[in-house]
Amino acid sequence: MKAGFGYSPLLVLLLLGAVCGQRPRPRPGRPPSTRKPPVPQPEPKEPTDFPPPILGPPSVFPDCPRECFCPPSFPEALYCENRNLRKVPTIPARTQYLYIQNNYIDEMTAEPFQNATELRWINLDNNRIRKVDRQVFEKIPNLLFLYLGRNNLKEVPSDLPNSLEQLRLSRNQISKIPASSFSKMEHLALLDLHHNKLGDGALSKNIFKDLKNLVQLNLAHNSLRKMPSNAPPNIFQLFLDRNNIEDIPKDYFQKFPNLAFVRLNYNQLTDKGIPKKVFNVSSLLDLHLAHNKLNNVPTFNHKLEHLYLNNNNIDSINGTELCPFPVMSTLLNEEDLPRLSYLRLDGNHLSPPIPMDVIMCFRRLKSIVI
Ligand SMILES: *[C@@H]1O[C@H](CO)[C@@H](O)[C@H](O)[C@H]1NC(C)=O
Ligand SMILES: *[C@@H]1O[C@H](CO)[C@@H](O)[C@H](O)[C@H]1NC(C)=O
Ligand SMILES: *[C@@H]1O[C@H](CO)[C@@H](O)[C@H](O)[C@H]1NC(C)=O
Repeated sequence: MKAGFGYSPLLVLLLLGAVCGQRPRPRPGRPPSTRKPPVPQPEPKEPTDFPPPILGPPSVFPDCPRECFCPPSFPEALYCENRNLRKVPTIPARTQYLYIQNNYIDEMTAEPFQNATELRWINLDNNRIRKVDRQVFEKIPNLLFLYLGRNNLKEVPSDLPNSLEQLRLSRNQISKIPASSFSKMEHLALLDLHHNKLGDGALSKNIFKDLKNLVQLNLAHNSLRKMPSNAPPNIFQLFLDRNNIEDIPKDYFQKFPNLAFVRLNYNQLTDKGIPKKVFNVSSLLDLHLAHNKLNNVPTFNHKLEHLYLNNNNIDSINGTELCPFPVMSTLLNEEDLPRLSYLRLDGNHLSPPIPMDVIMCFRRLKSIVI
C-alpha cells in the first residue's frame, strides 16, 4: 500500500489490519540441527498428534484461566494465543479483549462465553473451527471485532451479533452464506471473505442489503465469474482479485458513488469485457487490473491516481486517445489536469521510451513502470 494518501485514519487502519492481522502458527520446537537444514514438520492432522497445551504463568487473579496469560489490566484483556489449546477456556466476566489465535480449537461453544457479556474483540484466527454454536453470541451483545480467519468453516456462522464492526472470515472453506447472515449489521465496516470457495450463486440477491456502512468488501480469491451485483452501495473498497471474472457490466460502478479502490488483479478480463466508459467514474482513485488479458489501456476518469495494468497483453499506449483534453493544450486549470501519478505497464509488450503524448497529458505522473 502506498503511503501518503489523504484517507481517513479508519481506512488506513483497515488497510494495515489486512496486512498485519495474521501471524503464522509457530512451529513446534525441534532439536537444534547440526548440519542439514531441518525438514519442515507437517502440520499435525489428528488431535492425538497435537502438541500438549501450554499453561500460562501462575497468576495472582483467582479467575485467570490456567491456559492463559492475565496481564495487570486483567480482566480487560486475556491472552491465550499460541498455547496448543483444543478448546476455549471459561472466559471471565468483564473480559473485553480475547486473544486466542493460533491454537487447535475446533468448535466455538456457548458455555465458555456464558458470563463474558462485555467482550468487544475476539481473535480466533488460525484455529480449526468448523462449527460455531448459534447461542454463542446471544450473551455478547457488544462484540465489535470477530476474527475467524484461517479456520475450517464451510459457511458463514448464523446469528452473529448486529453490533459487529469487523468480521474476518478469510481462509476458510466457505461456499455458503445463509440468507440472513448479515441482516441488521448496520455497523459493519469491514467484511473479509477472501480465500474461500464462493461462487456467484452464493451471493444471493439481498445478502448484503443491510450493510449500510460497509467500507471494505473483500471477495478476492474465490470462484466468482461475475461482478457481484449486490455489493452495498456505500462501499469505498471492493477487492475481487483472483476470481474468474470475464467482464464488467456497463454502468456497473455508477451504483457505488463512494467507491475509490477497486482491485481486479488475476481475473480473465479482456477488452471485450470492458465497456468503453465503465471506468469513467469520478470516485475511483486506485484501480488494479494487473494479470488479466487486456490488449488496450482502458479509458479512465481524470481523477484516477493509481492504475495497475502490468502483466496484460498491451502492445501500445496512445496518450492522445487517453487524454481527457487536447494533449498540446496549455490553457488548463490545475484541477482539470489528470491526477494519474502512478502507472504500471510492465509485463506487457511495451518497451521504452514512453510516448511523448503520454508525458504531455499525464503531467502529474511521478512514476511509470514500463
Ligand atoms: C457465571 O457466573 C455465575 C455467577 O457468578 C457462576 O455461578 C457461574 O459458574 C459462571 N459460569 C461460568 C461458565 O463461568
Ligand atoms: C467521462 O465522464 C466525464 C464526466 O465525469 C465526461 O465529461 C467525459 O466526457 C467522459 N469521458 C468519456 C471518454 O466518456
Ligand atoms: C493516437 O491516436 C490518435 C487519434 O486517434 C492518432 O491520430 C495517432 O496517430 C495515434 N498515435 C499513434 C502513435 O498511433
